[in-house]
Amino acid sequence: DWVMGSYVDEAVARIRAQVGDEEVILGLSGGVDSSVAAALIHRAIGDQLSCVFVDHGLLRLNEGDMVMEMFAGKLHARVIRVDASELFLGRLAGVSDPEQKRKIIGGLFVDVFKGEAAKLKAGGEGHRGASFLAQGTIYPDVVESGGARSKKAVTIKSHHNVGGLPEQLGLKLLEPLRELFKDEVRELGIALGLPSEMVYRHPFPGPGLGVRILGEVKPEYADLLRRADAIFIEELRNFRDDASGKSWYDLTSQAFGVFLPVKSVGVMGDGRTYEHVVALRAVQTSDFMTADWAELPYALLKKVSSRIINEVRGINRVTYDVSSKPPATIEWE
Ligand code: XMP
Repeated sequence: DWVMGSYVDEAVARIRAQVGDEEVILGLSGGVDSSVAAALIHRAIGDQLSCVFVDHGLLRLNEGDMVMEMFAGKLHARVIRVDASELFLGRLAGVSDPEQKRKIIGGLFVDVFKGEAAKLKAGGEGHRGASFLAQGTIYPDVVESGGARSKKAVTIKSHHNVGGLPEQLGLKLLEPLRELFKDEVRELGIALGLPSEMVYRHPFPGPGLGVRILGEVKPEYADLLRRADAIFIEELRNFRDDASGKSWYDLTSQAFGVFLPVKSVGVMGDGRTYEHVVALRAVQTSDFMTADWAELPYALLKKVSSRIINEVRGINRVTYDVSSKPPATIEWE
């Protein structure tokens, strides 16, 4: 709309004034905030921006390709895709403790990103070298890091926010979304021409499928989970609620599959199967601090369950998580 349109112009002018003819690095995750920040900065300074997209091998089905298609393909932004799946999966082998897994993923992520950022800082091939690090920090993040939550005595789950990175890299910080709330960031994304499926996407945790595969993360578990999860999301997008006309994807705040590394017995044709279980999780929440499990229609659950069991060989049972937060958390790890 008009208001957002003029906001885009102002924001673009501000970025140009701050950056001048220098170069900027941004870590692209595929999430809403970094995507909108990338689109905005790219609008302002084009090829002076280089995005780094680290694929840790724990992303959702086709996610890496979709990010590349959007930013490198459609927007023509410079995006460096780092395929670090083997590194991450190798380092996770044999590790089953959730906090340990988070620390490994978070630590490696920072190392890989720093390595790429250092190369970009050094420049070369017609590039003078970057002097800014851009981050998709939004207003609630600013409040959170100076506010009550960081003083909490108990860490329930360590989140891997990349604090202190600009100083460590010797880069100046560029945070064009610092003053915006989430809904404003979304509007801005739409005004910049990002597709609404991207802008209204459910949040996805930094450690990705690493915290949705219970216990040890194995590549074959990740494959099964990716396929089951994609079916769940596809059907949530397909099914509409009659009363509101909205899809169940839009009626839920977060929804995903969880891989349970236990086997249960089933029958398939004439044979007995002994395969893994996928749990479905869908919640409704306004702040993610508390959440209710979503009362999805049985017809939707039925369709998802039969599709997963028929299409994903290796999964023979699907369950639905009916736990609210608290006392359960949204993620299972
Ligand atoms: P929980 O499971 O604590 O999740 O109820 C609340 C919200 O936070 C997300 N989450 C994470 N996000 N890194 C992230 O970036 C993490 O380690 C992490 N753990 C949980 C979760 O997906 C939900 O939206």
